[in-house]
Amino acid sequence: MLDATELIKDLQQMRDEGHLSDALLRQAVKRIAKADPRFDWVGVYLLNDGGDELWLHNYVGSPTEHAKIPVGTGVCGMAVAEKANLIVDDVSKVENYLACDPDVQSEMVVLIRAGDEIFGQIDLDSSDEAAFNEEDEEAISAVADKLAEQIAAERR
Ligand code: SME
Repeated sequence: MLDATELIKDLQQMRDEGHLSDALLRQAVKRIAKADPRFDWVGVYLLNDGGDELWLHNYVGSPTEHAKIPVGTGVCGMAVAEKANLIVDDVSKVENYLACDPDVQSEMVVLIRAGDEIFGQIDLDSSDEAAFNEEDEEAISAVADKLAEQIAAERR
């Protein structure tokens, strides 16, 4: 189980020491992936400057061919288009699902955002069906908010 409070504290400490978003995004992905055996693949996608594509920033898990995902495509792209986090219990039921690994059964996407402005997302895949619940979404959202704070500070 992810201890979001602990991770957020560590991310803030990294900020205090002068680390930038790149290091924080990598640290968050590593720690989330390590925290729970349900989380088989964890990655961060960031929106490109044009705002029409998600580019894979870093991940833990099997390599994926989806390093660039158009907004509106797949679970990842739909979350941005709908400006909402998504939990998919059974990926085989999603029409435009982009498969990374045939073992994946469920997926959760949590946006990295400051209000209406979307910077990217944390994407989690599991080989368990319906692996993700609201408690996971809350924990990952809290981490995403800390990452968004740093990204926003760099874009000011
Ligand atoms: N399944 C995602 C694509 C990204 S991979 O899971 C790494 C989707 O449908 O958007």
